[in-house]
Amino acid sequence: MVSVTTCILTVLIGFGSFVRSYYTEEYRPQFHFTPEQNWMNDPNGLVYHNGQYHLFYQYNPNGTTWGFMSWGHAVSTDLVHWKHLPIALECESDSNGNVLEMFFSGSAVVDVNNTTGFAIPVGKDRRGHVINSTPMVAIYTSYYPTAHTQSNGVVIRAGQQSQSIAFSNDNGLTWTQYEGNPVIESPPAGYVDQYQNFRDPFVFWYSPSSKWIMVASLANEHILLIYSSDNLKTWKLESQFGPENAKFGQWECPSLFPLYVDGNNRAEKWVILMGVNPGGVITGSGTQYIIGSFNGTTFVADPSDTYDPTQIPAGSIVFQNFESTSSTFKELGWKATGDFALFGPQVASSVTTQTINGNLGSGLLTTWIVDDSATGTIISPKFIITKNYISFLIAGGYYPYNPSTAGTANDNQVSFSLIVGGQVVHSQTGADAENLVWRSWNVAGWFGEEAYFIVTDLNTNSWGHLHVDEIIFSDTPKVEANWNDFGPDYYAAATYNGLPTADRIAIGWMNNWAYGGNIPTSPWRSAMSVPRKLALKTINNNVLLVQQPVSSLSSLYTPSLYSRKFSSLKSGETEIPVPAPYNARMKLTVSFKRGTGSKFGVILRSNATNTQETIIGYDFLGQNVFVDRFKSGDNAFVGSEPNQFPGHFIATLPSTLTDSITLNILLDWSSVEVFDGNGQVAFTSQIFPLDDSAQVKLFSVGGTTRTVTVAINGMKSSW
Ligand code: FRU
Repeated sequence: MVSVTTCILTVLIGFGSFVRSYYTEEYRPQFHFTPEQNWMNDPNGLVYHNGQYHLFYQYNPNGTTWGFMSWGHAVSTDLVHWKHLPIALECESDSNGNVLEMFFSGSAVVDVNNTTGFAIPVGKDRRGHVINSTPMVAIYTSYYPTAHTQSNGVVIRAGQQSQSIAFSNDNGLTWTQYEGNPVIESPPAGYVDQYQNFRDPFVFWYSPSSKWIMVASLANEHILLIYSSDNLKTWKLESQFGPENAKFGQWECPSLFPLYVDGNNRAEKWVILMGVNPGGVITGSGTQYIIGSFNGTTFVADPSDTYDPTQIPAGSIVFQNFESTSSTFKELGWKATGDFALFGPQVASSVTTQTINGNLGSGLLTTWIVDDSATGTIISPKFIITKNYISFLIAGGYYPYNPSTAGTANDNQVSFSLIVGGQVVHSQTGADAENLVWRSWNVAGWFGEEAYFIVTDLNTNSWGHLHVDEIIFSDTPKVEANWNDFGPDYYAAATYNGLPTADRIAIGWMNNWAYGGNIPTSPWRSAMSVPRKLALKTINNNVLLVQQPVSSLSSLYTPSLYSRKFSSLKSGETEIPVPAPYNARMKLTVSFKRGTGSKFGVILRSNATNTQETIIGYDFLGQNVFVDRFKSGDNAFVGSEPNQFPGHFIATLPSTLTDSITLNILLDWSSVEVFDGNGQVAFTSQIFPLDDSAQVKLFSVGGTTRTVTVAINGMKSSW
């Protein structure tokens, strides 16, 4: 990698087999993009042009926390090795130091037809004809913190967000802002009061109508606005989309692009991809997608891809809807202990926390009694599992059930759990939000067994409460949204313009607004995910957005470090020897089939005493892939809310006894990315282990796992 910063500070600290120096600081990813220093968030302006993949990104030139937002810039010819370039669009301040304009997220296009007129003569051909440049145009949100009048006479209100453009005639190296900025000053009629939350334009060329199309977000309204333009300067509002599916928090960084279903170029569909924050699948930031059609002006979601939260799957059995608000839990056959002993379901609108949304009917179970200080348990009557799924609505604080602290003095869970055979087999916490969202558990593995639910609130801190409503038993899960990633650290994903439809490549910000400003890295903060190739694939009659790391990453593979097949892997842990430094940065592929065991997986970044470990595996009974970072390393850096980071993340992936399940895992010092063989389930998760937590193990719980094949390659550094 070549750097514009030539100052290389080499700090020699011996850590066994490696030495800290430039780009090998503690936690520094070796094959993920990071800025040399300072804060980074969203990928911006992803565009492929003249053999180069451009990566612009939200960047603070002045520090390691969010602020002074500018567009950083890097390029790559292979999506693996990146070259840092000078800042493309730098935050502007007045002479008193007041910030006048920040450059928020957006996209970039190559204006091959010079629709903007931004092209300039760059030479002459052999016959003396003028050769013009091909302008690259960035379309971004101008965020103006301070009220002022621009030199072009436009009056700006404090906090305004407008859409602007800038162009480059030297392939993205230097940029000129368009003198007529902003090109879309305010949101349209009906939404003019949303002028402070109107942002993140994604623009692409729509060839059937020879127009530029923009999709931008009214973040608080959960509405995407679709505009068209002939020249990127004058825009016409065509339609709007939303709210739909995951629609709490804010909608940010939308994009809209076509893909072929199962690679068939006559079966094109369109995908909306967007960030939801807070309101992600775990807590804080998340990424959802919606599949549908686009006709050049309007996006229509497929009916099979929109989920009405007020409808429950046909044939569902309602176990408890908590509508009996004049009864105590005891009268309903439940058992309540501690501060909840004398209580029963409450009328949601009378619960005195912030406004509760998303409950069905008027009643719900809540552990908010006056305030967050109430603690105790609320236990359901026993029942027999007779359907494949249990679904429920849930909201409240993020304090997950942690098996290693449960029952100890450090137990601070706020959770809704399913108990079978005396064990917690599924557990769900809230997301630091008052809006109830649907969550589903696959329980096919316990069919015919006796079970009960327990609500446990042992937390008196802020957000130390939970709401639960509408517990149902059904044959299919109650879906809330299509999550693009089931981990906590994949946000603001954007895709490349300038590639063929079949080559849609996405990059996400590998962090989460819930704790992103506190992660313990220095002198940079935040990494990008590996670039991922997207596709639409039909799986069990559903069309899903699937993804895998781009194949060019294989250029970093070392020769095989480990390759083995176990016809039957025994119960317990089996250590795999992987030499440093590759025990901290590797590609590990594992395939396996169900044996007599209940869980199988891989333990990474573990120390000898298992006080640090990141666990990635499959639960044959719960039918889910999971990533567990309860003990991944430093996880209490979030100051006032140290619970924000740890967790056990799951994604349902049904399988049969004969299915071979594959997990592709990328480990890079401070992150793991996991993809199942189909790419329908992906997890992105940061981890901050000690350097010497570097063991690699396989595990099988409660019996054997069959036909286990493991292949490990080290990942060479791309820096
Ligand atoms: C998403 C986001 C965008 C905004 C940018 C500002 O992470 O909030 O909506 O444009 O970050 O840095």
